Amino acid sequence: MNIIKVNNNIELSEKAAQFVLNTISSKERPILGLATGSTPEKLYELLIDKNRAGEVSFSKVTTFNLDEYAGLSGEDPQSYRYFMNKHLFDHIDIKKEKTFIPNGLALDIEEECKSYEQLIEQSGSIDLQLLGLGLNGHIGFNEPGTPFDKRTHVVALDAVTREANARFFSHLDEVPTQALTMGIGTIMEAKQILLLVIGEKKADILKQVVHGDVSENVPASILQRHPNVTIITDIDV
Ligand code: F6R
Repeated sequence: MNIIKVNNNIELSEKAAQFVLNTISSKERPILGLATGSTPEKLYELLIDKNRAGEVSFSKVTTFNLDEYAGLSGEDPQSYRYFMNKHLFDHIDIKKEKTFIPNGLALDIEEECKSYEQLIEQSGSIDLQLLGLGLNGHIGFNEPGTPFDKRTHVVALDAVTREANARFFSHLDEVPTQALTMGIGTIMEAKQILLLVIGEKKADILKQVVHGDVSENVPASILQRHPNVTIITDIDV
């Protein structure tokens, strides 16, 4: 694992933007795996600026997001589709039809997971997968205990995750109890992975991810076995 230590979120986002730009400029049809959450917000702002300044074009880029809440439509401000449109897609020259996020309103969410997995397979491998880190070590919505070989699947969100995400909702009861997420098996097939971690409250879990045993109890610990992972963080690991 390659670890890049930064001093703050701006530095983290600038370094992460460089990885995204390198991927886009080195591939004919780049495929990016994207994450939502607080961590990549500044990165997305920088990508919008760079797109506006003509430093990068997303016109040939395809994106696959990690996850989506079950039961929320793309117009719901809490949905991850809404987040991605608002924080990135609406402001860059990407073709919307090439931005993929699981459909949280699908009638059969198990079936939706299978089709999402097939779509990723058919597009070829993800060139660069961005990840944030959950307080419990989750990546995507793969909570502790999720088998490492899972593909895109439906998950029950655990209490820690629902509480952590309640800040985006008016009440904890409104946080969905299920989500659709790429599995760890899916994530590990990305050619390159960029894990972004900011804030002292994630120091203990990040140390377990980097130095602890590879264990399904700490989902992100599997990244130790990926050949091309970079962690950008303000934490002394
Ligand atoms: C988001 C996702 C989650 C977040 C993680 C960290 O699409 O899959 O795994 O990356 O929960 O969230 P923040 O960045 O809000 O701390």
